[in-house]
Amino acid sequence: MEPSPFPYQGPLEPFQVQGRDEILRDLLQRVEGRRVTALLGPRRYGKTSLLRRLAADLPHMTTVWVDLYEVSSLPDVAVRFDEALGSTTGRFVSMARDLAASLSLNLGLVKIELTGPARGRPDPSLTFRSLLEVLVRTAVRHPTLLVLDEFSSIGRVSGAAGALRTAVQHHYQELGIIFAGSHPSMMRALFSARPQPFYGQADLVEVGPLSAGAVEEMVRQGFASTGRDSGRAGGLIARFTGGHPQRSMQLADACWRHTPPGETCDEHRWSRALTEVRQATSESMERLYSAFERGERAVLRAVARSGSIYGAEAGLLDLSSGTATHARQALLGSGDLMETGSGLAVVDPLLADWLRQRFPV
Ligand SMILES: Nc1ncnc2c1ncn2[C@@H]1O[C@H](COP(=O)(O)OP(=O)(O)OP(=O)(O)O)[C@@H](O)[C@H]1O
Ligand SMILES: [Mg+2]
Repeated sequence: MEPSPFPYQGPLEPFQVQGRDEILRDLLQRVEGRRVTALLGPRRYGKTSLLRRLAADLPHMTTVWVDLYEVSSLPDVAVRFDEALGSTTGRFVSMARDLAASLSLNLGLVKIELTGPARGRPDPSLTFRSLLEVLVRTAVRHPTLLVLDEFSSIGRVSGAAGALRTAVQHHYQELGIIFAGSHPSMMRALFSARPQPFYGQADLVEVGPLSAGAVEEMVRQGFASTGRDSGRAGGLIARFTGGHPQRSMQLADACWRHTPPGETCDEHRWSRALTEVRQATSESMERLYSAFERGERAVLRAVARSGSIYGAEAGLLDLSSGTATHARQALLGSGDLMETGSGLAVVDPLLADWLRQRFPV
């Protein structure tokens, strides 16, 4: 079967990233200027894809890519840094290996050592500090971009952010550093709350939705490159998703699958594609929805319907203003709601759609 031009699971390959020219230019300048940056954006807005593209656009730098997704302990954090260093290449990795050996570390094998028999197990916090030393000492001799993806998870591991800051703080001029994360309030707190080790140490940059034009162009190109005509699909998708990158790709993929080569995606095909995506996601939406607290559920419903937590919708749902305000804050903090020019919106357009369909009044 022909591969879809609209992948919607996992990060994109660098060459597939489109519609991000402006933010890419900004990030390139930041890295070149060695300005420490924290990239914030809701889940599935394309942060990892964007940073992969950034790394590909900086071929003279070695990227050390640390994925901190759901780290929960210091050994866990050490293993992620070890894996990141161990998967670099060329002169960087040979330099790092030599340095590691001089500190009695086997790069790439930290996981085995930290999970081995308790008696011979190294101290994880010492191991972590040694790994950071290897990272920094190699990086000052070799142009390096350090990417810390899913950085908000580090907040759960006591001492990890502090150790990292101690290791890198005197090298901001030498290293390009980008933090990325999807939990907006946690990310903000890590860089804007006084007691945090990285307080005031990075500029915050937000990844927004794709523009309607970018979605339309992406859909047009994907169809054209596979011998199809997207018709009005691009515009319909952009209107439905509001530029949410992953949902736009998912709907584009469904439209594309419903359009045979040589044909056009007409209204009928768009509507079949939308029905199919709604059906495929309704169970996970149901599960997602029931995991929210009662007040949050009511706020999501009100916002999906009217873009506000006040007014008739909220009255219908019997929301006290205290509960509503509290739930609104929590949902903004978790990245499930966002503020728009005209009020509030549910970040995931398919969740918003599911809420409107499931609770028609
Ligand atoms: N520039 C883009 N153009 C079109 N689609 C995009 C773009 N960036 C991301 N996507 C879509 O979003 C999906 C998720 O991208 P990615 O994993 O980079 O997002 P993320 O913000 O890192 O997500 P997570 O919060 O899950 O880590 C991709 O599979 C792709 O379908
Ligand atoms: Mg990601």
